[in-house]
This record gives sequence, structure tokens and C-alpha cells, in this order.
Amino acid sequence: MAKPHMCSPDLLARDLSGKTIIVTGANSGIGFVTAKQLASQGAHVVLACRRTGEGDKRVAEIKSEHANASCEVMKLDLGDLDSVRAFAAAFQERHPSLHGLINNAGVMNTSKGMRTKQGFEMQIGVNHLGHFLLTDLLLEALKRSAPARIVNVSSCYHDKAVGREGKIVIDDLHFESRKYDGWEAYAQSKLANVLHAKGLAKRLEGTSVIAVSVHPGWVRTDLAKHTMPLFVQNFVMRPVLKVMGMIEPWEGAQTSLYAMLADDVAEHAGEYYSQLGMYRVKSAAKGGWPMKSPNPNAHDDAMVDKLWEQSAALVSASQ
Ligand SMILES: NC(=O)c1ccc[n+]([C@@H]2O[C@H](COP(=O)([O-])OP(=O)(O)OC[C@H]3O[C@@H](n4cnc5c(N)ncnc54)[C@H](OP(=O)(O)O)[C@@H]3O)[C@@H](O)[C@H]2O)c1
Repeated sequence: MAKPHMCSPDLLARDLSGKTIIVTGANSGIGFVTAKQLASQGAHVVLACRRTGEGDKRVAEIKSEHANASCEVMKLDLGDLDSVRAFAAAFQERHPSLHGLINNAGVMNTSKGMRTKQGFEMQIGVNHLGHFLLTDLLLEALKRSAPARIVNVSSCYHDKAVGREGKIVIDDLHFESRKYDGWEAYAQSKLANVLHAKGLAKRLEGTSVIAVSVHPGWVRTDLAKHTMPLFVQNFVMRPVLKVMGMIEPWEGAQTSLYAMLADDVAEHAGEYYSQLGMYRVKSAAKGGWPMKSPNPNAHDDAMVDKLWEQSAALVSASQ
């Protein structure tokens, strides 16, 4: 079985003192491990969490392992655009600079009818539109602090999710005139993460703010909670799932860390970085830092702009 791509020890020992980095959804899974690593390297890390109580526990864990770590929890619910605006305002009041934004939080395969506060389908709402607004509100801070990075945590499921092709239906993002399917909605939201990074790269040309998207691998986290009971993943089926390719959160954090830290990423704005993955073509399964997505819809430049315009309209209509 192929081994996951890992960052070099040098990259993970680089001194990040003086850098401020936000990780969304950092109270669990890949986001927590990513935040802990960045804090261990000296960055000030803001754990942007919906459940701040859980975030506080994670900060305590980070500090117990790394006594000098500098990190804090701030409230962010990506399913409520008022919360996104409040987070961005509070962050900028407290912090003069921002060197990294990891748009990591996400939900997968949520049930029909689940909506964000503003009435968006839950997956496009949380995974894409919440992050779209957040990034927009923090862009000036990132530009001021450049060189800076934006990492959108997408998925290989932007290509195909449990048999459903990743595609954006621009005039029906919320499944109002098509039958709802939780995997189709996840694939759409994760393709949106890829296209958002491309749209950012285009708009940020010449600013030294680099945006990319990543697939972290199939990782043993709480993401599966809407699909199967977590004890099945974590105990009953764990050995089988491991043989099938499921990796641990530390391995799952590697692609985000590489995208945030490696020098060569600066030459690949808008591109896609993938851990081992499940793609429609077998040759893509080994991933690549970076690699070309096998989904033709990930290379639709007209859709990059259409999605940008539609997202901007949706988030501004909510004001
Ligand atoms: N695990 C995988 O196999 C895999 C594969 C491909 C891509 N990914 C991507 O990796 C990212 C991280 O997921 P994970 O696997 O680490 O799963 P996870 O452990 O479930 O973490 C997801 C995080 O997102 C947060 N979140 C969910 N809804 C939110 C909201 N409305 N506002 C703010 N935060 C919210 C969760 O907070 P709560 O704890 O409060 O729910 C949690 O902290 C996701 O974008 C996911 O799509 C994961």
C-alpha cells in the first residue's frame, strides 16, 4: 500500500515566530493537528471554532505539550454569516497582521433539509460560502502582511463522491429544483473550494498572497459522523478501513502544512495539492504536491468567475 506524503522534518522545524495563522474548525480532526503543529513552530494560532468550549480544551492540550505555544480560541460559526462578520471584526481588532488562513472546517453528507442560518444548503453554506465571506473580509489583512497564504481544505470527493460527479449547478446551489443527495452536495461544495482557490489566485496576482486547495487524504476524524456511527469507524471497522487506505489525523494534516509552509507553493498559486486519494482515474490515486485534478469541472475558468459572482451576491444579500 502506498505511504502518505509527509513534510520534511526541516519544514516542520521552521521557525514561525511573529506569524499569525487562523485555522477554522480547529477543535477536532485535521484542523486541530494542523493548529498544534503550527503553534509548536512558534506561530500565534487562532483556533476559529463553532464550539468554543471544545476549542478551549484543545488550546489546553496544545499548551500542555508545548509550554511556549501561543494560541487562542475565537468563536466562528460558518453556518451563520453574522458570526463570520463578527469573527473577522474581532480578529482585526486584536491582530494587526495575518500571514495564513486555513479554511479547514467542514461538514460531509448532511441530511436533506439541513440549512445554515441564512437558508443555504448546509454543505455549500458551511464549506464554501462561509469561507468565501471569511476570506473576503480578511483579504486586506493578508495583503498587508504578505507574503501570506490561504489554504482551502477541499477533498478528492470534489472529483467524485461515492459515485457522484463533482459539479457546480450555479442556478441551483441549494438543491431547490433538483433532488437532494448528500454526496452530490458534498462534491459540489468541495469543488467550490477548488474553484474558490483559483478565483483567489487570479485576483491576488502580484500580491504575494498565495491561495491553493488541498485534499488531506481519507482521514480518521469526526467528519464521518453524518454517515456512520463514529465507534464503527474508530473501533469496529478501524483495522479494515486502515487496510483500505484510511490514515490518521497527523498524516492528514501534512498536505495543509505543506501548502502553508513550503517555499515552492509560491510558484503554484491556484493549484491543487493532494494526499493519497480516491479519484475517477487510478493514476491520480497517488496524489501529488501539486497535482492536476482529474475532474474537468475543476478546470472550468468560466465557472470560477460564475461561482465567484454568485457567492459574492449570496453573501452580500445576507447583510
Ligand atoms: N476526514 C477525511 O477523510 C477528509 C477527506 C477529505 C477532506 N476532508 C476535509 O477536511 C476538513 C476537516 O475535516 P476533518 O476530517 O478534520 O473533520 P472533523 O474532525 O469533523 O472536523 C471538522 C471541523 O469543522 C468544524 N465545523 C463544522 N461545521 C462548522 C461550522 N458551522 N462553523 C465552524 N466550524 C464548523 C467542526 O466543528 P464541530 O466540532 O463543532 O462540529 C470541526 O471542528 C473538512 O473540510 C473536510 O471536508 C476530510
